[in-house]
Amino acid sequence: MKPISTLISSKIQFAGERTCENCGGKVPIIQRDGKEYSHCLACDNKTLEKEMEDFRKKSEAEAFFWNNSLVPSDTEDATFDNYHPKNESQKDAFDKAKWYADNFKELLEKGEWDSLLFQGSYGIGKSHLSHSVAMLLKQKQYKVIFADTPMLMKKIQSTYGNYKESQITIFENIAKADLFILDDVGAEYVKSKDGEESWAVDTLFSIIGSRVDKPNIFTTNYDSDGLRKKYGMHGGRIVSRMMKGTKPIKMTGDDYRVKGW
Ligand SMILES: Nc1ncnc2c1ncn2[C@@H]1O[C@H](COP(=O)(O)OP(=O)(O)O)[C@@H](O)[C@H]1O
Ligand SMILES: [Mg+2]
Ligand SMILES: [Zn+2]
Repeated sequence: MKPISTLISSKIQFAGERTCENCGGKVPIIQRDGKEYSHCLACDNKTLEKEMEDFRKKSEAEAFFWNNSLVPSDTEDATFDNYHPKNESQKDAFDKAKWYADNFKELLEKGEWDSLLFQGSYGIGKSHLSHSVAMLLKQKQYKVIFADTPMLMKKIQSTYGNYKESQITIFENIAKADLFILDDVGAEYVKSKDGEESWAVDTLFSIIGSRVDKPNIFTTNYDSDGLRKKYGMHGGRIVSRMMKGTKPIKMTGDDYRVKGW
């Protein structure tokens, strides 16, 4: 600690002005104990404002994701870092998914295409890669939703009757997301007991309709014929809406969950 006497004797003096190299404003130079100090308060404030704005946007993107997403428990931790491709098709899918996430902004500016579809059998990393894209774009402050199709249908169904408001909110948020991931399309239960098409097809039809010409990632075990058949009367239209501006990525491999593989 400095003795009191030196504190008292330390002199603070106005020692002139400089031009801030950053904003061009005039900045006072202060002299204290023979040393010069000079801070541009305008620039300091701008930096602070930008940091606060970044923080606000990041929190908003986090909240949007957590409030609207339905992620299967075995996918929650999936990122590009913990994906290990087991064959060429998985390596190719990884590269494309990573490229998509890295070039998302430029891709949308170009406006030629905007969406991906991962197709292939189960347990080969379709959900894993989609979730990885979600994590990367959420970090870049985009509003992202990851929704497992069966879970989403159940959630919407549970809002029928009593909670009209929350149902509207679900649809509104899906429509306004920067990226909407609809995972495992076709895994939801569609037919009623007597084989009638249920409300689920209509619901899916309007959800996908609200996302035409916006960035989406779909994943499915079905090929396009299989999906068309599953959705009956609406099948052709659902698939054609899904495929508008969408690059299909075919994946193959054995179920990652099966032990010993
Ligand atoms: N190549 C991989 N590297 C690391 N984990 C994987 C890989 N493929 C699948 N998994 C993991 O195995 C489980 C099943 O994969 P998932 O992405 O759900 O398959 P799909 O959606 O194709 O059915 C998940 O927990 C996922 O994280
Ligand atoms: Mg899946
Ligand atoms: Zn300045």
